[in-house]
Amino acid sequence: MARFQEWLDALEARHLADLTFSQVSGALRALSSAYVERRAKLTQGTALSGAGKRAAFALFYAPLHYLLVRHVVEAIPGATRGPATLVDLGCGTGASGAAWGAACTPGPRVTGIDRSPGRLAEASHTYRTFGLEGRTRQADFATATLQKGPARIVAAFSVNELADGARQVLLTQVLARIAQGDRVLIVEPLARFVAPWWECWRNAFQSAGGRADEWRFRAELPPIVAKLDRAAGLDHREITGRSPWSG
Ligand SMILES: C[S@@+](CC[C@H](N)C(=O)[O-])C[C@H]1O[C@@H](n2cnc3c(N)ncnc32)[C@H](O)[C@@H]1O
Repeated sequence: MARFQEWLDALEARHLADLTFSQVSGALRALSSAYVERRAKLTQGTALSGAGKRAAFALFYAPLHYLLVRHVVEAIPGATRGPATLVDLGCGTGASGAAWGAACTPGPRVTGIDRSPGRLAEASHTYRTFGLEGRTRQADFATATLQKGPARIVAAFSVNELADGARQVLLTQVLARIAQGDRVLIVEPLARFVAPWWECWRNAFQSAGGRADEWRFRAELPPIVAKLDRAAGLDHREITGRSPWSG
């Protein structure tokens, strides 16, 4: 957890250098309403426009995603063992790839894929902070040709940002990778907006020999996350999510 704290301290220093706490908590309120109500902005890639929202994502959602993915990979038998390569699809600031990578000994080499150059720069920093050899690639992760396996592949909170057609293309690619023996973890919120495509993915993973879980656990939130949670009128004392896994 020392590296997790080091990562948070660096994020706090960087993002709160030019913004006040109340600017970031106001941006967090706007961002959480975009995630819940204005989903179209996500497929257009505009949900994180503005320094305030980028800071809110980095200081609030990214640490929550880290804690959830770490919990998930430690709970699924065998998930922390496996190939030396990890691909982080829609890596954002790299939180979920780092969470999985940091739970493994030895840590895998991580490739983060995202369409946003700014987030890829953050992801490089994140992987480094967690002692992982990381590289990043700017691409559309739904259609990108992935490096040859064997690999672990994670897509956390990113599949729901794809348009329906792109999501179907990705599912076909992911199932082909599972058939080749790759380990694949998809993580999404429990929120209702995921439901329309969830069943199809869950069934596909289960037919391929995998499993699907819903997660709910209480975690002690890092102080900056707890403070933002209260200030923005949210309540993440219980961390939740769902995941299909195949390994
Ligand atoms: C909510 S963030 C999740 C980031 C990270 N996986 C995490 O768990 O914190 C979703 C990310 O997916 C990226 N993204 C969405 N659609 C994409 C696409 N078609 N190709 C590449 N990146 C995409 C966005 O730029 C954003 O960084």
